Amino acid sequence: MKALVLIGGFGTRLRPITYSVPKQLIPIAGKPMLYHVLDLLPPEVDEAVLATGYKADAIEAYVRAHPPRLAVRTITETEPLGTGGGMRNAGDTMSDPFVLLNSDVIADVDTADMIREHRRHGGVGTMSLAEVDDTKPYGVAALGEKDRIVRFVEKPEPADAPSHWINAGVGVWNAKVLERIPRGRPVSFETEILPGLLAIGVYGHRLHGFWEDAGTPERLLHAQRLLFDAGRGGTATLPPGASGRGPAAVGDGVVANGGLFGPYVTLGEDVVIESGARVEDCVVMDGARIGANAVVAHALVGPRCLVPPGERVEGKIWATGLAGSPAAQPA
Ligand code: GTP
Repeated sequence: MKALVLIGGFGTRLRPITYSVPKQLIPIAGKPMLYHVLDLLPPEVDEAVLATGYKADAIEAYVRAHPPRLAVRTITETEPLGTGGGMRNAGDTMSDPFVLLNSDVIADVDTADMIREHRRHGGVGTMSLAEVDDTKPYGVAALGEKDRIVRFVEKPEPADAPSHWINAGVGVWNAKVLERIPRGRPVSFETEILPGLLAIGVYGHRLHGFWEDAGTPERLLHAQRLLFDAGRGGTATLPPGASGRGPAAVGDGVVANGGLFGPYVTLGEDVVIESGARVEDCVVMDGARIGANAVVAHALVGPRCLVPPGERVEGKIWATGLAGSPAAQPA
């Protein structure tokens, strides 16, 4: 069985970090978001096709240098084709059925169970659904008998939301749905294709474990806490010379003598935490340096960025001098 991973978006809500690094390569709980997503695939899936676009070269280079546990292949769009267009472009060799994943879903999903359920009900698709209070940023499902989806509304106003069950970004689809997507132009799967599939049979699979869409800084940090709490991140072991408490996931080459740790920290490779600096509930990306007595909490620090000594970075993205960021370009 194969999986198709949609990974071509711009990640605008995580700018300016995503000017430099594609969203899916931002590390959370010790590894890039993409690798947590690939962890959702059961053993019967032996290949994932990554439908790439924005910063495709960086993704290709990373997966070649850090091979995931299953085979991956990238198929790149020369212009963004949207979710449906990306599926059509990369879906020529899909299995029947195949697993469809968004690349920013951090969740506790039993995908093997979803596949079994899909085969049992006999519809063309099974969509995982998460229950949320604020449905506005998502696609919302109205559910009928046996959780068949009878209506699907993309990004509704609160009064128009038919339920609190939203598209959680993990699905199982029959290969024939790909034939319904026009080739060579941008297509939204959710708004252009899905409504026409409901009459043939699309079923909801309600999730009861944790779920988060790690597409914004706040949600990304929440997703990291969920992963650590589920034991899918680092441990309580801190780097030599540091004090405080984990969990923390610490990359190779980190120097943190005299650093103070609070829980839920990911440090990329070669990060330096100077003496007296405090890190907590944060992601500090490769090669960044946190100056003496600085505080980084509830925050993301971009790759190779410098937080000056004594600075307080709280509840925000720190990307001063980030490579690739328009702010860092010469005028
Ligand atoms: P924002 O710009 O912050 O909304 O993030 P995003 O670009 O990732 O958009 P969104 O979260 O809505 O996308 C959902 C999923 O579809 C993500 O996994 C995206 O990478 C993916 N995606 C969005 N647009 C495209 C596209 O044009 N092509 C492909 N292949 N994937 C896409």
